[in-house]
Amino acid sequence: MTWWQGAVGYEIYVRSFADSDGDGVGDLPGIRQRLPYLADLGVDLVWITPFYPSPQADHGYDVSDYLGVEPTYGSVDDAVALIDRAHELGLKVIFDLVPNHSSSEHPWFRDARSSRDATHRDWYVWRDPAPDGGPPNNWVSNFGGPAWTYDEASGQYWMHLFLPEQPDLNWANEDVRAAFVDVIDTWFTRGVDGIRIDVAHALVKDEQFRDNPVLREVGPDASPRERFRSFDHRFDQDQEGVLDIYREWNQVASKHDAMLLGEVYLLETDRLRRYVERRDGLHLAFAFATLHTAWDVEEIRTTLGGLLEAAGENFAWPLGSHDDPRAATRFGGGELGARRARAYLTLLCGLPGVPFLYQGDELGLDDGELADDSAQDPIAVRNPGAKGRDPVRTPMLWEPGEGFGFTNGAPWLPFGDNRRPEHTVAAQTGRAGSPLERTRELLRARRALPALRDGSTWSWLTDAGPVLALLRSERRGEADEPADIVVALHVGSDAASDAVAELTLPRSGRLAYASADGATVSGATLRLPADTAVFVELAP
Ligand code: NOJ
Repeated sequence: MTWWQGAVGYEIYVRSFADSDGDGVGDLPGIRQRLPYLADLGVDLVWITPFYPSPQADHGYDVSDYLGVEPTYGSVDDAVALIDRAHELGLKVIFDLVPNHSSSEHPWFRDARSSRDATHRDWYVWRDPAPDGGPPNNWVSNFGGPAWTYDEASGQYWMHLFLPEQPDLNWANEDVRAAFVDVIDTWFTRGVDGIRIDVAHALVKDEQFRDNPVLREVGPDASPRERFRSFDHRFDQDQEGVLDIYREWNQVASKHDAMLLGEVYLLETDRLRRYVERRDGLHLAFAFATLHTAWDVEEIRTTLGGLLEAAGENFAWPLGSHDDPRAATRFGGGELGARRARAYLTLLCGLPGVPFLYQGDELGLDDGELADDSAQDPIAVRNPGAKGRDPVRTPMLWEPGEGFGFTNGAPWLPFGDNRRPEHTVAAQTGRAGSPLERTRELLRARRALPALRDGSTWSWLTDAGPVLALLRSERRGEADEPADIVVALHVGSDAASDAVAELTLPRSGRLAYASADGATVSGATLRLPADTAVFVELAP
């Protein structure tokens, strides 16, 4: 077994987790001080978003030094102290690596821009204008507008799948490859247990820079996301050769027993599968389809079923992230949304692979309600009318009071008008039935059930009706009598929110965890209220 099999992950958005020095921005010492909270919550693996030196055009996903630490967030010593403390507490730590693009302020790009003959010119993607003087092809940026910006001085365009301030690196250049091998080796040597790889599917581009086929025309008012999705991204992402990069990194990682987790944002299972099925490159890839299912039993069954069959054990299952609306908001908001989100998390914790919480999910939080004039996310700032990702990035709620225990200063982003003292960690701790206590119980239950923690086998118990039910079995070998677990989720409808479904189990069993009150097991019958999920341990 590798150390990440059976782990539960937790994403920390560094700016918004804990501010130790009162400047209103989260930092590494702040995270270190809060690590006991995470150990106590029961997660095993903590992913920290980028804290490297950066002009913060995309809040750290624009890196100007891959081996340093932005002074606002601390120092390299703070990063190492954080890792050491995590290890003392039995936690693993993974950092965010952003290899698709650097900041335009990175010395590599500054040099590249200085002249066509510069040493680092070919470290980035430069092309001549199209015959009409416009961009070289029809590729668009994820953040709106073309993926090309014209450089007056050298008469060429540089490419950027995100902001112009995030120029894409040229992964066809061997020196770029070698530079990143050094970067990851250095961080692994400093003690980090793995990396989450930003935009892992897009590093390599089509050699001929062909136009992407248009799937549908969109109007001028389309959001950046709609516009981006109106193309078949056949040529600017998911190229054959990208896997070779991870094969090389896999060799580096194995020297350090480190893990490679890809942000492979491809929603089509067949394309995603390729990144993990051979197990010689990435160890895990996020299965982002979990963030796009409606509260609809057939949709969840089809989506998860396809992924489980493809490579279930090698996926990380996010409940939320710093880029997408929170699960509680997506599933209806308020108490109902939070209840559904916890039921969904229970299902994700019942799958082979690594479930991931995003900070605040354990508190049952909705997206923060923010005034339009508080926009910080470049998507919102640059595209009037676009909501952006700020509502999921509001600071963590530790305790009641002005700075919610997050900061003694003015927070870089408001907490949200909908935040209340009862949402905080302090108010929920020890309160029976609070989202926090139920999450803690869930993670404790998962840890205590070897079939969930170590098992890889799974099968559907039912393939119809409002209940999704999976049978999980312990890996055979040591134990003579493998304990089977049923993981069941009743996906309720708004029209019948008090419905109770019955499921016949293969044998009698005991309720090992329920995401809400009211579920019962009597003999081999499970009675499951709507919007509730359970683990049932079957009798041998
Ligand atoms: C994915 C990250 O999660 C997101 O926050 C960022 O804006 C883009 N990659 C670009 O780095």
